[in-house]
Amino acid sequence: MALQQGKHAGRLERKVALVTGGASGIGAATARQMLAQGASVALADLQTELGNKLVAELGERARFYTHDVTREADWKRLIASVEADFGGIDVVMNGAGISVPGPIDEVSYEDWQTTMRVNSDGVFLGCKYGVEALRRQGGGSIINISSSLGIRGGAIFAAYCASKGAVRMLTKSVALRCAEEGYEIRCNSIHPGAIDTPMMDAYVGEAPNREAGLAEFGALHPMGRVGRPEEIASVAVFLASDEASYITGAEIPVDGGFCA
Ligand SMILES: NC(=O)c1ccc[n+]([C@@H]2O[C@H](COP(=O)([O-])OP(=O)(O)OC[C@H]3O[C@@H](n4cnc5c(N)ncnc54)[C@H](O)[C@@H]3O)[C@@H](O)[C@H]2O)c1
Repeated sequence: MALQQGKHAGRLERKVALVTGGASGIGAATARQMLAQGASVALADLQTELGNKLVAELGERARFYTHDVTREADWKRLIASVEADFGGIDVVMNGAGISVPGPIDEVSYEDWQTTMRVNSDGVFLGCKYGVEALRRQGGGSIINISSSLGIRGGAIFAAYCASKGAVRMLTKSVALRCAEEGYEIRCNSIHPGAIDTPMMDAYVGEAPNREAGLAEFGALHPMGRVGRPEEIASVAVFLASDEASYITGAEIPVDGGFCA
């Protein structure tokens, strides 16, 4: 039986959003803001325990699905389950991603392949099956989380930069196809600068050194600080909403001026 929509006035009322990478960081922050704006949210992630804990806190308009974005069979199963549980899908946010550092003369081919599998193939599958699902719904919005490193190069991020650049251009191709065919589906990419999420742990360590590490990353950004996951989530909410009805194929840096 389809989940009931609660009475909730908001910018995403009556919309159902599927968010990959939903158990942590930017995905979790986006799920919270989407719920606050009246949407129902399907969170998908590899981290089952964390995801289940989060939806227990978020309430009845949120559900968690264990899902690996690199597996096509998982996508088919996920979309079918979300459609059965919620009655359809209006928004797909492809947020799952990994960051494996390594300059070209040091990074292994294996790390390159793993990075491309998750960050590029995962978003490709999310767009492919997302477009199918959104067409069944009569339209919708796809939001792909790329990176400022999908626009600007970074010497120690050979695989990550390439994988995020692929997301940037895939987004435009999806947007153009949907526009030309009149699918009523918009597709845009968000390009975060360094954001204070668990992804940064590998670079900045744990407390008490974490703050100093974050400050070093922050100094690379013209605004002099790293971003908060909520600052990405609010742009995702906008792109998911009808307020963004004429925006497609756009790349939106949310990076304190890093790409400016
Ligand atoms: N934090 C940053 O500084 C930053 C900057 C630019 C872009 N991004 C991008 O933002 C997105 C979200 O990252 P975050 O910062 O919230 O990090 P995070 O590590 O907190 O969240 C990423 C989530 O993706 C999930 N995930 C990883 N591989 C997966 C797979 N194969 N299948 C399903 N789920 C998988 C992880 O379990 C995790 O919950 C990523 O695409 C990341 O590349 C982050």
